[in-house]
Amino acid sequence: MKVKLRNPTFVDARQIYEIERRSFEHPHPFLVILSEVTLHSDTSLVAEVGGRVVGYALAAKEVGRKLHLLNLAVHPDYRRMGIGKLLLQSLEKLAKRKGLKEIYLEVEEDNEVAKSLYKKLGYVEKGRIKEYYPWGKNAIVMVKKIS
Ligand SMILES: CC(C)(COP(=O)(O)OP(=O)(O)OC[C@H]1O[C@@H](n2cnc3c(N)ncnc32)[C@H](O)[C@@H]1OP(=O)(O)O)[C@@H](O)C(=O)NCCC(=O)NCCS
Repeated sequence: MKVKLRNPTFVDARQIYEIERRSFEHPHPFLVILSEVTLHSDTSLVAEVGGRVVGYALAAKEVGRKLHLLNLAVHPDYRRMGIGKLLLQSLEKLAKRKGLKEIYLEVEEDNEVAKSLYKKLGYVEKGRIKEYYPWGKNAIVMVKKIS
């Protein structure tokens, strides 16, 4: 299976939103996805298979040469094939090329699958934000230094 990675454009927002809806109990609204894709295209990636978007990592540059991973998901039909890992590793290379020093993210405390992926790739738990999500769940903040 050939997976192609590229920066997203606003044209991808609909397909990204479809994956978002299938991946999260509380998906980001379409307009949030559209604005993230538009504002942060140069620091975000989509994975394509056969011309179809099957996964995405949306991330924003923040002060202090940091990259904030806003959202990561892979279409349910394409999971456990290494695409999530590929997106994160490629995002790290992209961040390095831009001279950024750190990637950080928030993950729901009980999202064991995502936490295991991040840990496998060298992210460490930095803290816990109580009731970070509007639906009351706590977040774990995870960080990876890049050099
Ligand atoms: C988290 C997610 C992006 C992983 O994508 P993926 O393409 O399936 O992940 P990969 O195939 O690259 O897996 C890499 C590693 O992550 C871990 N992992 C992935 N899926 C797992 C599962 N279902 N159970 C346990 N570990 C898992 C494993 O360590 C895996 O390595 P291995 O396959 O060598 O064992 C995907 O499950 C997803 O979209 N989940 C819903 C959305 C979500 O929770 N996003 C994170 C928000 S913070």
